[in-house]
Amino acid sequence: MAKLWGGRFEKETDSLVNDFNSSIMFDKRLYRQDIEGSIAHVKMLAKQGIIKAGERDAIKDGLEEILKEIENGSIEITREYEDIHSLVESRLIEKIGDAGKKLHTGRSRNDQVALDMRLYTREIIKKTRALVKDLLETLIKLEEENLDTFMPGFTHLQKAQPVTLAHHLGAYFEMFKRDEGRLYDLYKRMNYCPLGAGALAGTTYPLDREYTAGLLGFYGPTLNSMDSVSDRDYLIEYLSAASIIMMHLSRFCEELIIFNTNEYRFVEIDDTYSTGSSIMPQKKNPDIAELIRGKCGRVYGALDSLLVTMKALPLAYNKDMQEDKEISFDAMDTVTDCLRLFNGMLLKIKFNRDNMEKSAMNGFTNATDAADYLVGKGVPFRDAHGIIGKLVLYCIENDKAIDDLDISEFKNISEYFEEDIYEAVSLKTCVEKRLTTGGPSRAAMEKAIEANRKYLDALKEE
Ligand code: ARG
Repeated sequence: MAKLWGGRFEKETDSLVNDFNSSIMFDKRLYRQDIEGSIAHVKMLAKQGIIKAGERDAIKDGLEEILKEIENGSIEITREYEDIHSLVESRLIEKIGDAGKKLHTGRSRNDQVALDMRLYTREIIKKTRALVKDLLETLIKLEEENLDTFMPGFTHLQKAQPVTLAHHLGAYFEMFKRDEGRLYDLYKRMNYCPLGAGALAGTTYPLDREYTAGLLGFYGPTLNSMDSVSDRDYLIEYLSAASIIMMHLSRFCEELIIFNTNEYRFVEIDDTYSTGSSIMPQKKNPDIAELIRGKCGRVYGALDSLLVTMKALPLAYNKDMQEDKEISFDAMDTVTDCLRLFNGMLLKIKFNRDNMEKSAMNGFTNATDAADYLVGKGVPFRDAHGIIGKLVLYCIENDKAIDDLDISEFKNISEYFEEDIYEAVSLKTCVEKRLTTGGPSRAAMEKAIEANRKYLDALKEE
């Protein structure tokens, strides 16, 4: 296969070098962006009088045919081609002859690949963001359905204070809301067009970079040609946002795996999202949740890998940067698949409300409220803490919950206890008295849900 750059070479490239250097087996997924960018480029070249209108039309028609050929599989993509850019250009020349040789006027593969990768990443940002929004819709729906589903809240994975399932899910809503915001911020920062930066120093042709940027849906052109060809920050930012999404998903998966165990039975993951064992007939394993948790590692790996690849690279383009693709594509596929699967799993999960409530009833989740009760009777908090500590010890020794004690047992520990202690330490009171903004009570949750509904509605209007 003739090289785009063969002119100054006297010898053929070594075949191992050919394979090592070639990126087509992974950058072939940029074919659509490559063709879209080339069409915008030739439109601009013709507008600027750099090529003729007839040449523009021939190139555009040729490129559109190549797009179809790639999509219907009639072009065989092999390692013979160096990259997707070479394939498209050489196929164009085969098809339309000399006019095709004008496609690359005023352009380098350096600004071309920078454009293709940016266009591709821009689509992936939109797709990831849409999937995060779907998950947010699921979460808010489940919150609304579970405002009165009591469950224990944990610290150190030990029962701490009672909350509701709505409140627990609401914590994840906030995490994914920040993820959505990160993707949007990144989109706004990266949506500038590098086409026209040339190899590194722009070009002497009178290109209209504003025009191509507009055709391709960018806010405008990038402002420094050296930066334009050597910037991969937007990819690093995407991988960083993707890593944080994966971290959130993995925390959520870990909790579902724990809550799905025989010991907890807070949730039951649906059959459609579980698998069995080849030897143990009774098993129903939460493999999908485990896999999502596990796939976190490869997305973190991609972020790390690209940061290391870019470290200490001198300006401007260096071939090291070809290494951005495989890892980024893998991470993009992984995070979008995980979001889709996780949302599906969550929509079908069964919440065992009774088990959650029973669990919240024992384990002394109301001990803080019992101490607060004594504070209400005039006992300083630190003393109240000590008294309730003794009360808990008594309950453990006698295998009772705080609510199970009779009034004389309460009074033996402190004379400040009255009949109203039962009401004060009931599960419902413990939750409903937590009225602070961001707290678990129905009233506080309704306010948070209302604010988050407005936020989701504003997203829909975008
Ligand atoms: N395959 C290359 C990449 O992904 C395209 C750019 C090639 N540019 C060059 N000067 N060799 O980075």
